[in-house]
Amino acid sequence: TAVKANPLIELHREAVNFYHRVLLSTKAGERGMQYAEKRKLDQDTLEHFQIGYAPKQDNLLLTYLRGKKFDDDLLAKSGLFVQSKDGRLFDRFRDRLMFPLANENGQVIGFSGRRISDDKTEAKYMNSPETEIFTKSKVLFHFAEAKKAAREEGHLVLYEGYMDVISAYKAGVKSGIASMGTSLTDQQVYMLRRVTSEIIINYDGDDPGVHAEERAARMFEKAGGFKLGIVVLPEKLDPDEYVKKFGAEKYQKEIQGALSPIDFFLQRIAKKFNLNNDREKVTFLDEAVKEIARVSNPVEQDLYLEKLAREQNVSKDSLKANLLRERRRQN
Ligand code: CTP
Ligand code: MN
Ligand code: MN
Ligand code: MN
Ligand code: MN
Repeated sequence: TAVKANPLIELHREAVNFYHRVLLSTKAGERGMQYAEKRKLDQDTLEHFQIGYAPKQDNLLLTYLRGKKFDDDLLAKSGLFVQSKDGRLFDRFRDRLMFPLANENGQVIGFSGRRISDDKTEAKYMNSPETEIFTKSKVLFHFAEAKKAAREEGHLVLYEGYMDVISAYKAGVKSGIASMGTSLTDQQVYMLRRVTSEIIINYDGDDPGVHAEERAARMFEKAGGFKLGIVVLPEKLDPDEYVKKFGAEKYQKEIQGALSPIDFFLQRIAKKFNLNNDREKVTFLDEAVKEIARVSNPVEQDLYLEKLAREQNVSKDSLKANLLRERRRQN
């Protein structure tokens, strides 16, 4: 006998279909479609990600789901409605482009809705609240699909945002997932460890994005067992903007050219100093050696020392002496 499906998951399946159909084939969805076109979302993409539109009108989802015989208790528990003091239900998402959020098995458990209007007093993205089936800290956007693609691509690519995953997908990078903002969680790291040892981090190229890459890289290092690559996009662009500006091929080159964590951190450290000034250069080299001292593989460590010595025109022996001192201090 078949296991009875969780009714909240069934309800979400219906909601996905509803929002998707509203977007693709209704008058109420035209606003959503205009926005989708503005964001260059084509038919295949809308299909693959099951993107939809929550209409502006009141309570169309409510009416639809009641028509499908879902009872109000379940509707209230789904997170897709807000409840007034006297217990009445109202559609939570209105006039938003809807991104379904799925669990590891690809079952939709919640939504995130992108504001379509220019009204900046409204949050740009609105998510489902925590429910029996939706825990935000454990969700990775596009994870179930990306896992499959990872078998071919050999890695998963971590993004901040939905639109980044989507544009990368169109550009041929199909193993994209999003942490849904810059605050990667430990739970997400553990989920990733079970499916891949190779992660490329490609957050937005702006300051918060690059800071968050540092933080994420440290989290993966701490969890252990990952081979990391880090992409820093130019001009503070996010991946979606980059693909639109420079095209798919150039974007793929950025992914192929991902930095090793050590190169990433050394570049970050170098930015803080004026390397034409000897005193600043000495401080830079001290910090750089500290970073290299964290590397556990001695061959790798040696390689980085070699490279740093060459690039900064100092002797490897002096760097090595510093490194040994640093290692004694770290132990
Ligand atoms: N986010 C969120 N709530 C917000 C803003 C952001 O949940 N109010 C999450 C979303 O998952 C979003 C991600 O953080 O995709 C990255 O934020 P940001 O870079 O600001 O948004 P973009 O993904 O670039 O969104 P868009 O391109 O639609 O402007
Ligand atoms: Mn469809
Ligand atoms: Mn951002
Ligand atoms: Mn962004
Ligand atoms: Mn963006």
